[in-house]
Amino acid sequence: MHKFEEIWLGLSAGILVIFMVVVGYQAFALGMGPPSHKETIDPQKVNQTAPFDEPGVREIGENKYEVVMILQAFGFNPSNIEVPAGAEVTFTMTAKDVVHGFQIAGTNVNAMVMPGHIQKITHTFDEPGSYLILCNEYCGAGHQMMSTTITVK
Ligand code: CUA
Repeated sequence: MHKFEEIWLGLSAGILVIFMVVVGYQAFALGMGPPSHKETIDPQKVNQTAPFDEPGVREIGENKYEVVMILQAFGFNPSNIEVPAGAEVTFTMTAKDVVHGFQIAGTNVNAMVMPGHIQKITHTFDEPGSYLILCNEYCGAGHQMMSTTITVK
């Protein structure tokens, strides 16, 4: 092997090892992770655990709404929800079975919803209309059918 090849190979391997050590140290020694997913839930008891025992849309303040939603193969519960335009809407979500995605087309709302974790994402819909909600994490045979709509009035 050419000497330069050896040097560059060695350098790239070294950089990889350094990155793995840094990321591993942050993840395991410092307990660092993504900022979301701080709240956990027993995925076997989603239906009995508040607020998921009553999924739906509720008013939580002046022009503020919370949408409590359960994701499971292959749907969103509740589906076809309605919220007012201009209101601050917080989606509180969890998954019952596998990892699902929550993406609202035409907005920057995009979240990964994992069993055992509570995911929250807040959005204000300025424009009334019908928005498509899609699961964008492959979750099984019916993944491509997992969608619903949110109506903003
Ligand atoms: Cu749920 Cu893909």
